[in-house]
Amino acid sequence: MGGHQSARGSKDEWLTPPEIVADLGPFDLDPCAPISRPWPTADRHFTIKDNGLMQRWTGRVWCNPPYGNKAKRWISRLAEHGRGTALIFARTETETFHPWVWEYATAIFFMEGRLNFHHVDGTQSEHNAGAPSVLVAYGDGDADRLQAFTAWPGRYVPLRPQRRFILVAVPPAMTWRQLLSNVMERQGRAARLEEIYVLLAQHPKAMKNPNWQAKVRQILQRGPFRRLDRGLWEFAGVEQ
Ligand SMILES: C[S@@+](CC[C@H](N)C(=O)[O-])C[C@H]1O[C@@H](n2cnc3c(N)ncnc32)[C@H](O)[C@@H]1O
Repeated sequence: MGGHQSARGSKDEWLTPPEIVADLGPFDLDPCAPISRPWPTADRHFTIKDNGLMQRWTGRVWCNPPYGNKAKRWISRLAEHGRGTALIFARTETETFHPWVWEYATAIFFMEGRLNFHHVDGTQSEHNAGAPSVLVAYGDGDADRLQAFTAWPGRYVPLRPQRRFILVAVPPAMTWRQLLSNVMERQGRAARLEEIYVLLAQHPKAMKNPNWQAKVRQILQRGPFRRLDRGLWEFAGVEQ
């Protein structure tokens, strides 16, 4: 993006063309919205003042996140949430796409050409974004909406999320140690902490415990797991 600071906003303030949100919406929440905005993108908005990453996300989410390496945290959070649509650059080789789009998204829409984003005063940028964009759907409902999307030309590509919902079959009576062992063993490779959260987020044990992420970190420390790098864990034992 040819971003610049001006009365129209900082370089992070590139707003989605409203016809795109109108066609895909309505959304319940935009967790990364400008403080001063020319139109709503959802029923509720979090801004930088709230820090949307620190808030609880509920309902169907619209997420055109801050750019560059900041995008990863927002897209991993949306993958964990499991319900919503994101607008990001089609940088398919990045740590945002691997694994948070390729392995967890339900569908992608590759947009033809390039978008011209809007300033916070509502005017449209004279310059295009400088890179191609994609819409990424998480969850079947959002994938259906994306398949029916007509506000912009492009190509809809369904993906099969590879790991979500595996855990629905795991009995909730398991201990955290058994559950985590089961998940890590199925994974068959080292997993990043954020990935482990995604795998567990919809398990009944996690849904019952507001501090489940801290519990996961505690169990990882106690084994049978091995820490390979900061935030990177593998299963290191046989759990019966
Ligand atoms: C690319 S713009 C997209 C705005 C809007 N979501 C849309 O689709 O038009 C990203 C927005 O994220 C906001 N933002 C940056 N950091 C944030 C944070 N920690 N919490 C909430 N919003 C944030 C910026 O102020 C900016 O408005």
